[in-house]
Amino acid sequence: MEDHLPGAEHWLSIARYRNVTTEMVYMGSLFRPRRDGDDCQTPSSFTVHRLSNGTICFESKFLVGVTRDTMTNSHTTRQSSDRADDIAGAREDGRGRSVVSAEAVNEGRRGRLRTSHAVGLLLLLTAGVFWIDTVTPLGVAGAAGVMGGVPYVLVVLASLWILQREYALIMAALCTLLLIAGFFVSPAGGELWQVAMNRSFAVFAIWTTALLGAAAKHSSSLAAVNAALSAQETATRKQAEEALHVSEEHWRSLTEYSPDHIMLIDEELKIQYINRPVSGLTVDDVIGAPLLDFVPPKCHEDVVNCFAGVFAAGEPGQYETTYCSDDGTERVFEAFVGPIVKSGKVTAATCRATDITDRRRTEEALRESEEMHRVTLTNISDTVLITDDAGDYTFICPNAHIIFDYSEEEIRRTKNISALLGEGLFDPGQLRARGELTNIECEVRDRRGDPHALLINVKHVSIKGGTTLYSCRDVTARKRAQAELRLRNLAIESARNGILIADACSDDMPIVYVNPAFERMTGYSAKDVFGKNARYLHGSDRDQPELAEVRRALRESRDVHVTLRNYRKDGTLFWNDLSISPVRSDDGRITHFIGVQNDVTEQKASERELRENEQRLTHVARLSTMGAMVAGISHELGQPLYAITNYSDACATAAEQLQGGQGEQVVDWIRRISEQANIAGTILKRLRDFTRPSRAERMEADLNSIVRQSIESTALELRDRNVRIELQLTEPLPRLFVDRVQILQVMINLLRNSWEAMEETAEDERRIEICTQATETDETVIVRDSGPGFGKEGEQRLFDQFYSTKAAGMGLGLAISRSIIESHQGRLWSTSTDVGAVFSFALPIGCNSLLETDP
Ligand SMILES: Cc1cc2nc3c(=O)[nH]c(=O)nc-3n(C[C@H](O)[C@H](O)[C@H](O)COP(=O)(O)O)c2cc1C
Repeated sequence: MEDHLPGAEHWLSIARYRNVTTEMVYMGSLFRPRRDGDDCQTPSSFTVHRLSNGTICFESKFLVGVTRDTMTNSHTTRQSSDRADDIAGAREDGRGRSVVSAEAVNEGRRGRLRTSHAVGLLLLLTAGVFWIDTVTPLGVAGAAGVMGGVPYVLVVLASLWILQREYALIMAALCTLLLIAGFFVSPAGGELWQVAMNRSFAVFAIWTTALLGAAAKHSSSLAAVNAALSAQETATRKQAEEALHVSEEHWRSLTEYSPDHIMLIDEELKIQYINRPVSGLTVDDVIGAPLLDFVPPKCHEDVVNCFAGVFAAGEPGQYETTYCSDDGTERVFEAFVGPIVKSGKVTAATCRATDITDRRRTEEALRESEEMHRVTLTNISDTVLITDDAGDYTFICPNAHIIFDYSEEEIRRTKNISALLGEGLFDPGQLRARGELTNIECEVRDRRGDPHALLINVKHVSIKGGTTLYSCRDVTARKRAQAELRLRNLAIESARNGILIADACSDDMPIVYVNPAFERMTGYSAKDVFGKNARYLHGSDRDQPELAEVRRALRESRDVHVTLRNYRKDGTLFWNDLSISPVRSDDGRITHFIGVQNDVTEQKASERELRENEQRLTHVARLSTMGAMVAGISHELGQPLYAITNYSDACATAAEQLQGGQGEQVVDWIRRISEQANIAGTILKRLRDFTRPSRAERMEADLNSIVRQSIESTALELRDRNVRIELQLTEPLPRLFVDRVQILQVMINLLRNSWEAMEETAEDERRIEICTQATETDETVIVRDSGPGFGKEGEQRLFDQFYSTKAAGMGLGLAISRSIIESHQGRLWSTSTDVGAVFSFALPIGCNSLLETDP
């Protein structure tokens, strides 16, 4: 009874603790029994600990040092030492082991010490009583009767008082033995039956005292134990409730603030608890609903299999699923499922679903990026090699064969990069200092032995287990192209023709390149002309018909070849034989125009000289024809003219003698005859001179004064024919260097042609306009009449010798006039209009280069 009573109470407590513990386990795997069967022991105190592995455990243990007589110390010590390792350092809130303590152990030790002293004392007392008994005669002891047992009863009472009840019984037994021994060894005395009676009473008294005392002592200690246990149980329950509260707080905090969705799923796969539903759903929507309602059909099988495994085997499982959120985006979840075991059976499962969409995206992006790098490295023409400090390969790009024609494996077999790129490619010290060395040129040979020019960048890295990254670019083709380009550039640079490249894609086709020959030819440096259009070469000479051809060709993007008057930087003229061609890109677009210039000034001068020589020859031939004729005429006319002059002089002298009013008039007429005869003679002489190679008499002359003199010289004829002269003279004109008489002759010739052409014209309409004009290079005289003009045939033959539209005309006037003007490097031409004929001649200003060679 004594042994079972406390145990029964403990079992009651255990049942309560087991409930608590079971609930904890049920709620999750956070609170577990330390090991299976722990809850079958008999805990009398209950403490929560965090174990060294982080889990929380309940510790239950026996009471120690509360009452010595209800618990065994050895059992308590074993229990506490069992746990000592586990709970070392686990105490977190000061509520560690409340019962097992050093004080309790010391108290036990002190108790044991006090018992041995008391036993010793009692034995001494017993020995003393026995000695008195043995020295006292039996009769005395017997006479003492009941008194004879009193000392022994006192010993038993003393043992009851100071020792445990077991000791009192032992002492009672000892006293009984000594009482019997005293009967035999005490000196004789008194009646035997009286002595025996006395001794029997004494034994009775001893045992009555011992038994009653022990019973009384036991019931009082039991009451004390029960009181202690009850107090302990209250404290323990309080601790358990506190622990439960703390664990609930932990659980709430863990679930509430967890970003994951934590669920409790029952065997029917229905959701019993969820800490947070997915967006768009409420807790009420979810609780009690089948988990599969929130899983797309394609994932049903995985989910069902996972839970089946968890419920069947009690092993945790895992699956992946998707959920389409209310904004239409699909989220990916990874779920971990764990069993909840009750009485050895899986009754439910916890499910923690983590949204791994972002992680998946990152993983996908990473995978894509890796794939991209792999594809890039495989397809680019540059290759990458990575080595360690010793130059041994740690990575070879799969495209290495493009340059080296060796496979990745073949290169790896050579082990060290020096076999591929040669020794001493760079200074390792420099690489360490700078971290990267760029554009190292080197020449390698591929498997076939063909040379390759490589441009290598070396970089200090820490990837793929290597330290040095070589990025190799094959620049063989580029080098070859560069060499060809250099050659072409050299050809262009050293060409004798000017070369100009204009950008066809930019506004106004700016010049982007000119070669040195262009610079020499034009005097403009490349710097002067870059960005400009080449039209600056025209100067102000922009009316050249060839330019229209250039514009047209550029517009139509075709080749063109023209010769232009261009002007150097110093303003001097040069003839530019220009060819322009379009340059097309691969896709057929015109990107540039190339112009090739050739300075043909000298060639032009030779051509002009040739032309002038031809003209001169024609002139000479014409003159020689005329010369013979003029010589004959002047010979024939010379004599009569001479006679006319003499006779008219004689007539004039005779007439002066005549008296009367008519004398003066006659003298005047005769003088005029003589004067005209002189002019005729001079003309004949000039004609002779003209048709005979001779030096012209050139001098400075004003063209306007020659025009005026020609009008004066013909005034009589003009007046007789009622011809009105209209003058539009540009004043002043630069002076010319000409043979004045010859030009006067041309002017008179033109005037005569005009008035003769107007013979059929009404007298009041007979009009001759004479204009003089000047340009920078020429002075021009234009003679316009109001006659009928000349027809088509006339226009073509006007200047032919002996061609005349007049019946009495010799057909020499215009031919001779043109010869005279051309001998002055000028031009004489005619234009027929509706209202008459126009004759013009132009003479160069200050041009006397051919004076010396004039016929
Ligand atoms: C490639 C190229 C080279 C040219 N070289 C010359 C040149 O040497 N001399 C010249 O007078 N014009 C040259 N021209 C023509 C002028 O740049 C300009 O295009 C042409 O005179 C028509 O311009 P405009 O419309 O202003 O008259 C060249 C044009 C091109 C596209």
